[in-house]
Amino acid sequence: MAGHSFSLIPQDVPKLKTDHRLIQTAIPAPGTAEVFERLDKVESRSMHGQLPLIWERAEDSSIYDIAGNQWIDFTSTIFVANVGHSNRRVTSAIKETLDHPLYSCYAYANPVRANYLEKLISFAGEPFEKAFLLSAGTEATEAALKLMRMHGQKAGKRRRGIICIENNWHGRTLGAQMMSSNLGQRAWIGYQDTDIHHIPFPYPWELEGQSGEEFLQQGLNQLVAKGVDLTQDVCGFMLETFQGWGAVFYPKDFVQAIDSVCRKNGILLAFDEMQAGFGRTGKNFGFQHYEVTPDLICTGKGMGGGVPLSGVIGRAEIMDLPEVGNMSSTHSANPLVCAAGLAVLEELESRNLVNEAERKGKLFREALESIQKQFPDRISWILGNGMIMAVLFQDPATGKADGSFTSKVAERCMQKGVLVVHTGRESIKLGPPLIITDKALLEGIAVLGESIAEVAAE
Ligand SMILES: Cc1ncc(COP(=O)(O)O)c(C=O)c1O
Repeated sequence: MAGHSFSLIPQDVPKLKTDHRLIQTAIPAPGTAEVFERLDKVESRSMHGQLPLIWERAEDSSIYDIAGNQWIDFTSTIFVANVGHSNRRVTSAIKETLDHPLYSCYAYANPVRANYLEKLISFAGEPFEKAFLLSAGTEATEAALKLMRMHGQKAGKRRRGIICIENNWHGRTLGAQMMSSNLGQRAWIGYQDTDIHHIPFPYPWELEGQSGEEFLQQGLNQLVAKGVDLTQDVCGFMLETFQGWGAVFYPKDFVQAIDSVCRKNGILLAFDEMQAGFGRTGKNFGFQHYEVTPDLICTGKGMGGGVPLSGVIGRAEIMDLPEVGNMSSTHSANPLVCAAGLAVLEELESRNLVNEAERKGKLFREALESIQKQFPDRISWILGNGMIMAVLFQDPATGKADGSFTSKVAERCMQKGVLVVHTGRESIKLGPPLIITDKALLEGIAVLGESIAEVAAE
């Protein structure tokens, strides 16, 4: 079938059974291609690209396909299932909402919305006072863009400038794509908002002995050289908490210097916490690693534990800038998503999952670093924090990024009962549900090591 990144033809692979994995058929399982064939006829090809596994059900940190094969999940449905797949507390909360029954009431007030927002604000901590709920992450970054510009407008700034970082990513709607710097993905727009600027990302391999602060200064100098006056022409700074594809965090002094620039020039600082929020990095929100306090937090993914829930959180002074009705959406804050979001926060709290993510994150890193020691010529970097890690692969002969080897390793992991995030480039991303047991976590990492060894030997 055209357009698929991986073969849909079932391969004979060794059968296996452990406490966490079961591979009892050829992989992809017989019947997989048929489901894709049906989808190919009725769905945009833009949904293709993931590993060819048909999800029949998922529970805790396991995924099961149509043939009953079982995988250890290192994707969390791309960092959504922080509290585990089909989490009992979340599903019960959804069921209770349906049985009550109230699962949609547009912007009319309802008690569960008040319960949820109170809890969310307390989870975010000071100085956050208010939130605005949406459905998709891209809507949240778009809303932050609007708030930052409204704030600058109110302050009488000359222009509506927003500074973003090269290769960061904020979603697929117009403003979000303009803040992302992926030229290919935003080519359809046909123009770029000249008040959205990009400065270079401080990749550890590009710092060359410079401090994060010096690196930032160079980026800002480039903007100033183009005529951008930081005080008069810039309203906001939008940062993805870490760069997604490789779980690349910034040096702390880079972000702290951004924070000072923002404070000095009346610029709002927003963090896109889509992947980093709700305990994923071992903190409530990932920005806490940098010891700064942003003005706005954009949230989504793990926030709803599987239902479409996103939001922007900030101080009242910023969140109340839009007039009544100027920032709202049909499904904003509906009772069903609020009930699920509340259950997610209760689950994080009652199972101490944020601290657990920090503790398991150390195990995670140690295990990955020991694999790196076995393949020093293949693995160039292990990056990440808490329960979000990335392994970057290089060609041993040239030292250049090796996307093709990486894809083979991802596919091999799948054949061996571990699902990893295929990024389409030289990184494999690993983000298991925070509830994964130590045993399943270490078993999954061992499988990654075996897969690298097998593919490297071929
Ligand atoms: C950092 C970041 N921002 C924004 C988004 C967009 O979120 P959504 O796909 O829910 O619109 C994503 C999604 O992957 C993301 O990773």
